[in-house]
Amino acid sequence: MSHQNKDPEWSGFIRRLFQEAEPYLSVRGDMAHTRVSHDYALILIRQEGGNERIVEPAVILHDVGWSRLDPQEISLAFGVLAEGEEADRLNRIHELEGASIAGQVLQALDYDPLLIEKITSIIRTHDSGLDIRFQEEGLVKDADKLWRSSKIGFWEEAERQDLDPKELYRFLNARYKEWFFTSTAVTLAGEDLEERAKEIDANRQGVKLKTK
Ligand SMILES: [Fe+2]
Ligand SMILES: [Fe+2]
Repeated sequence: MSHQNKDPEWSGFIRRLFQEAEPYLSVRGDMAHTRVSHDYALILIRQEGGNERIVEPAVILHDVGWSRLDPQEISLAFGVLAEGEEADRLNRIHELEGASIAGQVLQALDYDPLLIEKITSIIRTHDSGLDIRFQEEGLVKDADKLWRSSKIGFWEEAERQDLDPKELYRFLNARYKEWFFTSTAVTLAGEDLEERAKEIDANRQGVKLKTK
């Protein structure tokens, strides 16, 4: 069982890691994404097992590589609907640069080299890799993608990618079962999407009332 929150030293380390990641994550505005994904990672660890000393740092640092791209390039690779060769190329850069930054951050904090190796190998293919090589990799990938159907993630992505919420909902609902490795993540995303459907309905009714 995970001993998160019970080990003050570990909690302190996690806080420190968020501070270290912040300047990188703020470039694309990925702090909310990272916090939400980290919360999901804690649930996944609790339900599925797995080493939090690999999963938590990997989740916190997985997107720091976006900081190495310029903002115009970033918008091309943005979001769940980004496609094409250029989006793929930029996506690979954020993975490789992210792994390199994560390695430097963790080394500077004297983190265990064997764990650093695992963490950076997850980050290196966290988006492009289709298969997983070990359990923690699946947990990180699932925690990352649970953002899409989360309350904050869904509405933030709809806004920043200028998507119709109903269209985004339909896309996620049709596809979400394909991209998770754990049954816990499938269940969580399914529950989240039910909530999003209710919110979309409530918003629509709100709009109707206003136009009367
Ligand atoms: Fe990413
Ligand atoms: Fe991410």
